[in-house]
Amino acid sequence: MLHFRRFSDASISEKILDTMFLITIGIGYLAAIANLYYTHQGRDGEEGLSVQDVTLAYYGSHNQTRLGAAINGPMEPNLPNAAAKTAILDWIQNGTTEEEFKAKVKPILQNNCVMCHSAESGMSIPHFESYEQVLEVTGTDTGATIPALVRVSHIHLFGIAFILFLIGRIFILCELPVMFKRVIVAAPFIFLLLDISSWFITKIIPDFAYVVIGAGAVVGITFGMQLVISIYQMWLYKPKAS
Ligand code: HEC
Repeated sequence: MLHFRRFSDASISEKILDTMFLITIGIGYLAAIANLYYTHQGRDGEEGLSVQDVTLAYYGSHNQTRLGAAINGPMEPNLPNAAAKTAILDWIQNGTTEEEFKAKVKPILQNNCVMCHSAESGMSIPHFESYEQVLEVTGTDTGATIPALVRVSHIHLFGIAFILFLIGRIFILCELPVMFKRVIVAAPFIFLLLDISSWFITKIIPDFAYVVIGAGAVVGITFGMQLVISIYQMWLYKPKAS
């Protein structure tokens, strides 16, 4: 009968090497998850990581500028009347020119907003003392840029493909039902590709944030299974005599 290499054929040195590699990669994975948390948590204004944070990271919040959202929402009571709000929204609509800013918007901000939105107030909120400062809250929020996504995807694809390949090479030395092994060895690659494509799709379809999270979770689970099962079989599993 054809014999494929198994952990029972590996030397102790090889098993030590494999184990040290797997443990280090496992810790690296936990650090990657922590990094992901700190990068995206709180985007939606709430503590912790949520689907909304992921949506904002990739899709942004297209329909609003930060300034428009504020004067339609929590900052509305600071405006003296509806005409002032219309003046600001019109300025955004008309392309945020400096002339129109000076003529129509600056006086409104000066009288109603700058007492808080300035360096003197000491609050860590956007300052509205100059045209440039106000422009910073008038851009449409369109989430991650394509160049940024391309940069992060190529790093992820190259880096993670290597890791998954090496872990898979170790994992296939396990003694397990063949179908199970075939699925578990392919799954992290497939879901990695799905995860990374979903970053781009989420830029267009915000609900794909769920696919980003789901696919990422499957990568983590199948990767974790390979790691734990491999270490277990290397050191604790006694193969049945065949
Ligand atoms: C009494 C102080 C106060 C006044 C007056 C005030 N703001 Fe604010 N503003 C705040 C604080 C505090 C925050 C941050 C808390 C929050 O986001 O709800 C904020 C947040 C904002 C933001 C959101 C910034 C972001 O991070 O997206 C915008 C835009 C804004 N204000 C615009 C205005 C405008 C326009 C006016 C005048 C019509 C105004 N504010 C008047 C205190 C003030």
